[in-house]
Amino acid sequence: MEITKNVQYVGVDDKKIDLFEGMYSVPNGMSYNSYVILGEKIAVMDTVDANFKNEWLKKIEKVLDGRTPDYLIVQHMEPDHSANILAFVNAYPNVTLVSSQKSFLMMKNYFGTDFANNRLVVGDGDTLSLGERELIFISAPMVHWPEVIVTYDKKDKILFSADGFGKFGALDVQDEWACEARRYYIGIVGKYGVQVQNLLKKLSAYEIQTICPLHGPILKENLGYYLNLYSIWSSYGVETDGVMIAYTSVYGNTKKAVDFLESELKKNGCEKVVVNDLARVDMAEAVEDAFRYGKIVFATTTYNAEIFPFMREFIFNLTERNFQNKTVAFMENGSWAPTATKVMKGLLEKCKNLNYAQTEVKILSALNDESRGQVSKLAKELCELC
Ligand code: FEO
Repeated sequence: MEITKNVQYVGVDDKKIDLFEGMYSVPNGMSYNSYVILGEKIAVMDTVDANFKNEWLKKIEKVLDGRTPDYLIVQHMEPDHSANILAFVNAYPNVTLVSSQKSFLMMKNYFGTDFANNRLVVGDGDTLSLGERELIFISAPMVHWPEVIVTYDKKDKILFSADGFGKFGALDVQDEWACEARRYYIGIVGKYGVQVQNLLKKLSAYEIQTICPLHGPILKENLGYYLNLYSIWSSYGVETDGVMIAYTSVYGNTKKAVDFLESELKKNGCEKVVVNDLARVDMAEAVEDAFRYGKIVFATTTYNAEIFPFMREFIFNLTERNFQNKTVAFMENGSWAPTATKVMKGLLEKCKNLNYAQTEVKILSALNDESRGQVSKLAKELCELC
């Protein structure tokens, strides 16, 4: 696949993977992208997952058409991109590895060598000439690991963005970019909003015509759309107006309260209400929704004087990713000593800038007139905040 005249795609699609990074369900597979830049000098951008070594090397050989590469540029050391560095050096012993200082330390750990005799260490703002083409390296620490660099090709105005602007899904799958890019971003880089903002600031100095990420499609049109979403996600802003209700229910009574809240919200004019049963939904989808919408209702049962385990896991996933800037509300259920709201508030205490709804719903085993009234009041309050 040709990106521009002298930049070729040599990545692979992984259709067999079940869990990306050992935890994210990827029903549409995953792509590990790699690129070859052909000039007076030739640079290969990153490797691919270990399982695709031969397929990747063959693709490169075909694109090289008898030439040998001068550089392997390593932007990120996570093994989905770095696993074949040694295999590449063995195939092309005269190649120079180009990467950050931290990457070479990691290479020593992964491969037992830091390639001291054939490496070029680059830092923020350093350049590399490929002849008529110049590459600029931009450090991007914690997007997604500390060693990350991204690369700007001045000639074709291409940003090689490492994990940035990536998404779940193989390249031959047609789906809505934002849906799986958001789940990918929030899950994997969500904690590092400040660092992503820093990178976006640096990138604003460059005119970008194409974004070549390490996962997902090459982005060529309407780049403002993608950049704007990254700006919202990394600043923990509200992407979509609406209410997300995350709940657990053991015998269905909390669920009845959630169903009633959903209908009351709609009755009061709230057009977008999303409900996630935390015991059954893909947790990464629920987490993604919590970052997407402006108002989140946490509804759960008291359990062992605590909260139901799926809700605890959900809140852990939010706080770990610096959940902030949202309106939150609570509904608790308990048959003899409801404590869920207190526990949930405690868990969310360290989150910045949360606006707590005044109305709290307390259900004693099952909805009654009093708790039904609280649900109606909460729906009104949340809708007034719309
Ligand atoms: Fe796609 Fe952070 O590796």
